[in-house]
Amino acid sequence: MAAAETQVVEAHGARIPLVGLGTWDLRGRTCARVVEQALRLGYRHVDTAEMYDNEREVGEGLRASGVKRDQVFITTKIWPSHFAPRELERSAKESLVRLRLSEVDLLLLHWPNPNIPLSETLPALCKLKRMGLARHIGVSNFTVALIEEAVKIAAEPLVCDQIEMHVFLDQSKVVAACRRHGMAVVAYSPIARGGVKNDQVLARIGKPHGRSAVQVSLRFLVQQGIVVIPRTSRVERLSENLAIFDFALSDAEMAEIATLAHRGGRVVNYSYSGSPKWD
Ligand SMILES: NC(=O)c1ccc[n+]([C@@H]2O[C@H](COP(=O)([O-])OP(=O)(O)OC[C@H]3O[C@@H](n4cnc5c(N)ncnc54)[C@H](OP(=O)(O)O)[C@@H]3O)[C@@H](O)[C@H]2O)c1
Repeated sequence: MAAAETQVVEAHGARIPLVGLGTWDLRGRTCARVVEQALRLGYRHVDTAEMYDNEREVGEGLRASGVKRDQVFITTKIWPSHFAPRELERSAKESLVRLRLSEVDLLLLHWPNPNIPLSETLPALCKLKRMGLARHIGVSNFTVALIEEAVKIAAEPLVCDQIEMHVFLDQSKVVAACRRHGMAVVAYSPIARGGVKNDQVLARIGKPHGRSAVQVSLRFLVQQGIVVIPRTSRVERLSENLAIFDFALSDAEMAEIATLAHRGGRVVNYSYSGSPKWD
């Protein structure tokens, strides 16, 4: 099997590494150090956002790693209070200044904003791509209905929807909508904020493979072509979360893991300013 850094999902010309480092809640020196170490270990994808207040440190970690800029896929996201067209451009430029980059690989709308029509925000986002601020654009936390609306409006391809996705949550409707439109699915909170760690089914399935419950839960997603962006503040866990490309789950194991999804499995219960609720 190919090394972790060479495994990508392709969507409308974007080549998104299947594993990325999540950085929500990583701050200051810890953030810079974890990003640097992750890249040294073979990660080639880092996920940040204007809202995480760590873009500066993500950029520092990137430069300290010595990995060439064109070898790393960097995603950032614009916060919904900045979705009016002028604000969107200003926010994207400020993110680039903090990251000290001339462009990001992927620029996302972080959450839907019910107070600003997509017909205003999406053309502005497409313009940012044409201006060269982002190589690719996409959305996050969009429902099926919003995906359908967005793809009709956007003049440039939307390459992904970044959504909460892990073994405890069935996201098959959103995944199907993304696939219909050639969009990648990026799974956030892919280990349910650590919740998969003590799951007995995952631990049992991992045993004959010599893998932890966390590794099994990540493998379950990447084996379906879903991008995962687990976060850790601990350097020793970075390798564990990346070592998911040298074993495979059988069809029976995949089917058993799929039974873990249940109502109420969501771990992120936030929604921006009354943005549409999930089904
Ligand atoms: N678009 C959005 O609205 C959105 C929303 C939420 C998250 N995200 C993105 O998705 C990323 C990941 O999601 P998340 O941070 O919510 O949760 P997550 O990655 O599912 O879980 C992170 C938690 O798991 C623990 N952990 C990590 N690796 C582990 C391992 N190998 N064994 C045991 N525990 C482990 C971490 O603790 P330690 O630090 O102690 O290892 C941390 O508490 C975020 O960082 C962010 O980049 C996006």
